[in-house]
Amino acid sequence: MNAKSVGSAHLATICVDEVAIAANVRTLRSAVGSGVAMMSVVKADGYGHGMGSAARAARAGGAEWLGVATLDEALELRRTGDTGRALCWLAEPGADFGSVIAAGVDVTASSTSQLREIADACSGGVVGRVQLKVNTGLSRNGAPEAQWAEFFALAKSLQDQGSIIVTGLWSHFACADEPDHPANEQQELVFRTAISHAEAIGLEPEFKHIANSAATLWRPSARFDLVRCGISIYGLSPNPQIASSRDLGLTPAMTVKATVVNAMDLPKGAGVSYGHTFVTEHPTRVALVPMGYAEGIPRHASNQAQVWLNGQRADLLGLVCMDQIVAAAPRAQIGDDVIVFGPGDHGEPTADEWAAWCQTINYEIVTRIGGRAKRVVMTPRVQEGS
Ligand SMILES: Cc1ncc(COP(=O)(O)O)c(C=O)c1O
Repeated sequence: MNAKSVGSAHLATICVDEVAIAANVRTLRSAVGSGVAMMSVVKADGYGHGMGSAARAARAGGAEWLGVATLDEALELRRTGDTGRALCWLAEPGADFGSVIAAGVDVTASSTSQLREIADACSGGVVGRVQLKVNTGLSRNGAPEAQWAEFFALAKSLQDQGSIIVTGLWSHFACADEPDHPANEQQELVFRTAISHAEAIGLEPEFKHIANSAATLWRPSARFDLVRCGISIYGLSPNPQIASSRDLGLTPAMTVKATVVNAMDLPKGAGVSYGHTFVTEHPTRVALVPMGYAEGIPRHASNQAQVWLNGQRADLLGLVCMDQIVAAAPRAQIGDDVIVFGPGDHGEPTADEWAAWCQTINYEIVTRIGGRAKRVVMTPRVQEGS
């Protein structure tokens, strides 16, 4: 890895490997086989990788669908130039469904009141493509079982009136990253019941779906017509304790780099960073790395994490600051390249290791990285259809 080749003019750089994302989507698609559509989830700025990059790469890898959470994200997706099928699923009361429907994005209804709002937004011959979300046990969003009769009946009647077309019926797992958890079987059962209810009322949603990355990989019975893969398209495992990226044939797509902006020799007994939570036990050379919690470096990484500097691991010393971290690095010089995390192929720490050091999940590590760090595409941009 040539750390100097990209972003050396910046304090900190997030390098995004679009080719890896496209390859990951291809790998996942071939794992699920034909007959199951792939939705790549590009919400939250493509899990920190950039929505435009994630969308372009996912389409290049063969994703028929893209998924985002909010209506604003749906419009942002269209601004990136994407014109393919897409779904969004999180809206506040009074949200502007009209502009999202006009942009050709499928919207999600989780209640009868949301269905009415969506139908109201479909005027002048515009037919809204709507997917119905049911709660099967996550207890977060989606119509609960007690409301299904009314919910499905209203959807059918609005469809018969011609204001909407029900394109999908879907739900979301709570524990798919623990494949043996009994909630998975239970949720799948409840989802199958919801499908039967909807069909009994006369709805024929083309896409029934419930699987996130973990269920896509580890619960084949839950793939239905479509799988919604997020973390895995970015090359990360939904549960690294079950299988690593490498085990899954996935390539992590984010490498975070920075440039050493100061280096100094500290004597024994020197306190490092705010609060002097670290005090040198012997003379120590340290490097100042210009990323902090404003760039999404978790403060929980203080005195825990490592970075890659001059071909070796360097321990973080003291508290993570807003703009800066300090690492122990015997040969550090101003201008040296630092890799905060990357795929791990060259010995650098991975997002999975950072997650373990910070007692969190890899999702949070990649999604929160940003702030003043500049995002660049690491390899040549993928071409759609490549
Ligand atoms: C509704 C929905 N589907 C799919 C996903 C993708 O999940 P994962 O990143 O675990 O694949 C998410 C992400 O949280 C989601 O909210």
